[in-house]
This record gives sequence, C-alpha cells and structure tokens, in this order.
Amino acid sequence: MTVSIKTVREVAGIRAASQMAAETLILVGDMLRPGITTEDINTFVHEDTLKRGGIPAPLNYHGFPKSVCTSVNEVVCHGIPGPRVLQNGDIINVDVTTIFEGFFGDTSATFFVGEVSDEARHVTEVCRKSLDLAIQEVREGAKLGDIGAAIQGYAQGQNCSVVRAFVGHGTGRTFHEAPQVSHVGKRGTGLRLKAGMVFTIEPMINLGGYEVEVLADKWTAVTLDGSLSAQFEHTIVVTKTGCEVLTKRSRPLKNSEEHLAAALISG
Ligand code: MF3
Ligand code: CO
Ligand code: CO
Repeated sequence: MTVSIKTVREVAGIRAASQMAAETLILVGDMLRPGITTEDINTFVHEDTLKRGGIPAPLNYHGFPKSVCTSVNEVVCHGIPGPRVLQNGDIINVDVTTIFEGFFGDTSATFFVGEVSDEARHVTEVCRKSLDLAIQEVREGAKLGDIGAAIQGYAQGQNCSVVRAFVGHGTGRTFHEAPQVSHVGKRGTGLRLKAGMVFTIEPMINLGGYEVEVLADKWTAVTLDGSLSAQFEHTIVVTKTGCEVLTKRSRPLKNSEEHLAAALISG
C-alpha cells in the first residue's frame, strides 16, 4: 500500500478535526469521577461532537454501536460504553475520533478514576512516556521501525509489554489508511518517513504479557492474562525537521496529566 502525502490544505482539515477531538477529550477528563457510567461518557462525547459541528467516527463504524471507545482496566481497546459504573481505582482509556468537513482526527488518553494503585499508575505513565519518546523519533528520513523500537525498548525496560495485535494507522479522509504503525520494531527498518505523511501513534502497554483476546461482543479486546493495560494516542504530521502533533492539547488533562499542570504552574 502506498502512503499518501497530504497537501497543506488536507493537513489543515485534519488539524481542525484533530483539535475538535482534543477539546472533547479534555472535557471528558473534567467529567470523570467514580460513580459515572461509560454510557455517560458516550452521551457526553456524542453531544459535544455534534455541538462542534462534527460527527463521532466510531458510531456505526464496521458496526461499532457507540460514539466513543471506553476501555477500563484489563480492556486493551475498543471497549463499548454501557451501564458499567466507574469505581475508585479504575483506569480508563477514552478514544475520541471526530470527523469534521470530511477529515478525521483521532486521539485517546488513559485517565485515573479517583485514587489508583501504584501498578495502575506505572503502566499508565510508561505508556504516556512511550508515546512521547516515539513522537520524538518522527521526522523526514526517519524509519517507521524507529517508532516501534523507541516504544518497545522503553516499555520492556520498565517491565511492561507492548501489544502487537493493534497498530497505529494513517488517517485523513478515511479513518484507517496506510501505513500501519507497529508499536514494536527494529531501528533503521521499515518505511522511510516523508514530510506530509499523517498517521497515528497509539501504543497499548500491558503490565503482564502482550497477548490479547477479543470478547464475544466482537469488539472488546482484553489482556489474555487479565493484567492492566493503558493507551495514549495522537495524530501527527511528519515535517522536514520533526512532526506536528495535530491532536495537541490546549491544556493538561484533568485526572491524567495533573503532574504536567503542576509543572506548568511551578515553572
Ligand atoms: N479510535 C480507534 C483507533 O484509534 C478505532 C476505533 S474503531 C471503533 O483507531 F469502531 F471501535 F470505534
Ligand atoms: Co487510531
Ligand atoms: Co483512536
């Protein structure tokens, strides 16, 4: 599969959709607390997206029944919102994808529900940092394998594993397009990156083994060993000297990035 190079106008469209998704995700962080249901998150994301003039991309995508993915604890990705009540100590990934004027923006984060265990915090922080390290690899001339190598090297060094069964993806006028962005790999191998390529990086990091299974609902992916799993996702565009994070947040996420907020305040 060939990987398209987006025009400046196309990147502007993806940026607009990405910024809408990022703002919705920020507001999800504000509403999270023990006692709400994943359905409450779905209702909020659906209505907030429409209010902004967007369309929630997950709804009816290959039959997905809801407007956002909500993946709690051992759920790796594609959790379906429903009556589940969030409990103190849970971690939850919320994955928002917005379509605006025909372009897709895709971003997710893992949040803490109340006070969480050291293990839950560890897998979440390892995942957050692995995405940051991967983003730092991206520039024209780098290889796709550099991204996977950065994530895998860091996460495995922190006694975590990297999910293989799901990958990042090109995006633009379609939700998922070439290239596939593996979160494991060897430095110096794979596709050579060019300015104007747009794709997501969305590592799923487990406390136990990397194997996953998909539940009978055909969507919910869980860790095979029941261990905790975290995920963060950004949509990025490659540039000559680095990359632009199209889903960059205008402020740190409540219930996930408070340490970053504190760092901003203290300088
Ligand atoms: N947002 C997910 C991704 O990062 C895809 C969700 S597909 C859905 O690629 F159908 F489950 F919504
Ligand atoms: Co994605
Ligand atoms: Co996503």
